[in-house]
Amino acid sequence: MHVAARTMIQHYHERTKHRLDRYAAGPDTLDWDMQPDPFRRFIGSRKEQLPLTADTLLTTWANCHTSRIAPAPFNRSSLGALLELSFGIAAWKQYGPDRWAVRCNPSSGNLHPTEAYVLAHGVIGLDDGLWHYAPKEHALEQRATLSPDRPEDRSHLWIALSSIAWREAWKYGERAFRYCQLDAGHALGAVRYAAAALGWCVHLVPMTQADVAALLGTDRSADFAGAENEEAEFVIEITRQTPSSPAPFAWTTHGRWSGQANRLDQGRRLYHWPIIDEVTLASRCMQPLNMPNAPMPLAIPAVRPPDPHSDQQRASTLIRQRRSAQRFDRHAVMSTDQFLAIVRAMQVGRLPWDAWPGTPRLHPVFFTHRVAGLPSGIWVLPRSDHGEALLRTTLSPDFHWQPHGGELPLYHLANHPALASTLRTVCCHQAIAADACVAIAMLADFSAPVQANPAAYRSLFHEAGLMGQALYLEAEAHGLRGTGIGCFFDDTLHDLLGIRDQRMQSLYHFTIGMPVLDERITTEAPYAAQDAQE
Ligand SMILES: Cc1cc2nc3c(=O)[nH]c(=O)nc-3n(C[C@H](O)[C@H](O)[C@H](O)COP(=O)(O)O)c2cc1C
Repeated sequence: MHVAARTMIQHYHERTKHRLDRYAAGPDTLDWDMQPDPFRRFIGSRKEQLPLTADTLLTTWANCHTSRIAPAPFNRSSLGALLELSFGIAAWKQYGPDRWAVRCNPSSGNLHPTEAYVLAHGVIGLDDGLWHYAPKEHALEQRATLSPDRPEDRSHLWIALSSIAWREAWKYGERAFRYCQLDAGHALGAVRYAAAALGWCVHLVPMTQADVAALLGTDRSADFAGAENEEAEFVIEITRQTPSSPAPFAWTTHGRWSGQANRLDQGRRLYHWPIIDEVTLASRCMQPLNMPNAPMPLAIPAVRPPDPHSDQQRASTLIRQRRSAQRFDRHAVMSTDQFLAIVRAMQVGRLPWDAWPGTPRLHPVFFTHRVAGLPSGIWVLPRSDHGEALLRTTLSPDFHWQPHGGELPLYHLANHPALASTLRTVCCHQAIAADACVAIAMLADFSAPVQANPAAYRSLFHEAGLMGQALYLEAEAHGLRGTGIGCFFDDTLHDLLGIRDQRMQSLYHFTIGMPVLDERITTEAPYAAQDAQE
């Protein structure tokens, strides 16, 4: 099984690379009126409205990065804040006849393939059970009660995620599986930051895909009859102190289930992408991804130095104001301090990386276009000793690996005076890559982990998505703005860095700069009707 799965993943990865002479296979035409419904519902399930409480959280951005906040109790109000700040609607946007929601978690093409579930036991004001989160209403839909033989002790809370690949595939075709996994990684980051604002800890529960599917009921085919199915991703444990709860997988199997999934695509499906089903199957986790023998991270200080710009800002404000820049001011210059603060946020051991198990396998390469005091050039931050060794043997032998100095293991690789036009080309000719102050490519230690366990294909994208979420929020905290870049010509970037094989692959790109706002787009409050009722 492993051999076939590995071959499948390598095949999928190569096949879904965008190349200068052809994009990965996708639809030839798009009927925008036939966009998949971004809001899943479970018809016939019991609904519970959640309170909108994020405004009451006073936690500052600086305090999010410490353990100084008293953990909030597990109750309906704090759960409402957690979900509002991780998956809730952040605003409604309107331009001409088009109206769309943006959420606290970003998503490729704003298509939102990620669905969030809550598994609650002993949360005050909420019945024990499995609940699906409905972001448009900020409400929960009950999917299952808990089995009566559940352990009776203290309260437990888990968030679990699934992906609906069709939502992404509708627009992006075969490459969509990658975007679903990146979005799931962003969602993990969104949960981590929201939990930090409540003083809570977060960690990934090692479980097989089959156990996650049984827990979430995504394997209950009758409940999804006639509707797009969901692929179980992972379970996140939320604790008020350090992680200690039992694995949750037996809890819902004997519960009472309710709800029928709605159909998201009302139109006629013009395209089907069987390779997405194949890579989904090949990358399922058959044994939990624990890497006890993995090399330890570099011993770099995870302490966050004081930052006068961001420290006193409220975390809940920063989280809800996060947006993707659609254009950047091409004359803006970012300071070295801003740049280094963003680099520092990639370090292991600090928020949000405390939620990530095992050794970091993603290593950011920074392209500094317009950073005051730094040349236009290429930099790398190895995030583990193993990563540094791999980077040194994989990247171009012409790179000179000049340490930046200071506490960060940041190396200058080369100057590159024509970065803007090169990166515009690499990033599918997108102007934001040229106009950003900094662009980032996330290089993964790729072939070895995937050979050892095909499920690593998903977890590498999750780690990249988590890195993207850290970049979005750090950019926002420093008065800048970010945009994730899923569209790039994979091997063109590899050529630029001298990468010749699959030992390292770039999985995701990112841009940071000074945004230019489009005044024609109007903004409305996320839950105006509900606000008015309260
Ligand atoms: C995985 C991923 C890939 C993305 N790729 C691109 C891209 O190539 N170009 C772009 O302009 N925006 C890209 N975005 C930004 C999304 O379009 C944006 O998140 C979405 O429209 C929602 O807007 P928001 O981030 O302001 O909430 C990407 C976002 C994610 C999460």
